[in-house]
Amino acid sequence: MISRPRGTRDILPDEIEGRRETEAIMRETARRYGYREIVTPTFEEQDLFTIRSGEGIIDEMYTFEDKGGRKMTLRPEITAPVLRCFVNEGRSLPKPVKWYYVADCFRYERPQKGRYRQFWQFGIELIGVDSAMADAEIILVADEILQESGISYTLQIGDLSLMRHVLQDLSSADKKTIRTFLDKRDIANASAFLSDIGRNDIIQPLTDLVLARSTDEIFAILGDIPEKERILSMFSILDDQKIRYTINPAIARGLDYYTGMVFEGFAEGLGAENQVIGGGAYRLAHLFGGQDTPSCGFAIGFDRVMVARGDKKPSSRPRVFVITTKETQLLGITAARHLREAGICTETDLSGKGFGGQMSLAAKIAGYVLIIGKQEMEKGTMILKDLQSGEQQEMTLHAAIVYLTSQ
Ligand code: HAM
Repeated sequence: MISRPRGTRDILPDEIEGRRETEAIMRETARRYGYREIVTPTFEEQDLFTIRSGEGIIDEMYTFEDKGGRKMTLRPEITAPVLRCFVNEGRSLPKPVKWYYVADCFRYERPQKGRYRQFWQFGIELIGVDSAMADAEIILVADEILQESGISYTLQIGDLSLMRHVLQDLSSADKKTIRTFLDKRDIANASAFLSDIGRNDIIQPLTDLVLARSTDEIFAILGDIPEKERILSMFSILDDQKIRYTINPAIARGLDYYTGMVFEGFAEGLGAENQVIGGGAYRLAHLFGGQDTPSCGFAIGFDRVMVARGDKKPSSRPRVFVITTKETQLLGITAARHLREAGICTETDLSGKGFGGQMSLAAKIAGYVLIIGKQEMEKGTMILKDLQSGEQQEMTLHAAIVYLTSQ
């Protein structure tokens, strides 16, 4: 027996139906805000991802050499591909460009609950605008999508410029080390590291900033930094729209391309892998040969949202099985086609079963049976039976369709 690759899943129909419903909600919300769907290739040149993050990221990716000797990778995320596409195809489009995507990503991670090697993201990218309003809109769309998806989550918002002011005269390697500790919420090791490199002077402001939970506290530590007005303006839009969030200046984000506002969302009941969304403001276009272009966006971990929703319920729409005899078989096929034309999911016997066999299959897969015996055929009627309640009624095909479409 060949089993599926580690860290991947087979997704069966009951689960897929729930996923498609949730996906439709997300697409519809993005559409209402003016975002349009984009599809990019499943694999890209490896440089697209290493150009910003360095060769170190190769360990976390599915990379391969194609038959032409080119280094390729299965996309670990979709922001870089979308920005590559923007540079290749979208530069002349009116700004801002508003795109969304739903697609699978591949990361060579150690699989555990909620962490897969193939997983799906729903994301949006807002390209070519740099304002408090743009940052706020990203959070408004994200919040609306997650609320409409029916999950309860908590939102944390920060801004990388805050930490940048505290760490401004450190080398970029030292900044990166501190960011890695902060990404894991590890203040103790960040402080120990600062002590090791002889920067005890920064430990207190860093600790104060990490613990700050209001803009008053933040700007009491940092003073009137140039980004202050923009940050206050974004939070005032969110407050006005009654968005619930916590300010967290320690959010560092794992990916290397963020420049300003950053945010993360966490859902209940998911265990350790509870981050359902991550995003923020970033610049990538100039690295791919385009102009330096401000952008912001987010990606939702679709699989985690589905676990947080906790539903695997099959579709509740009526499903009908048409039961016939040898003599009424052709009439059954015609009746089934009429039912399908009316949008009703309808199946017929395909393996020559007798009445009992058809009935027992129908009991397993359908909500209703439509029985057409010889007598009914002669009268121009059929019997519609509700398999749950056991109630049945003789009626015309037209009446059955009217009844079923109203269910
Ligand atoms: P990210 O935080 O790496 O950001 O991923 C976004 C979301 O994808 C995570 O919050 C998580 O829910 C989900 N996710 C990540 N890895 C896995 C995994 N192995 N298994 C299941 N779910 C996972 C990005 O990817 C950025 N491109 C987001 C972005 C868009 N920033 C700006 N625009």
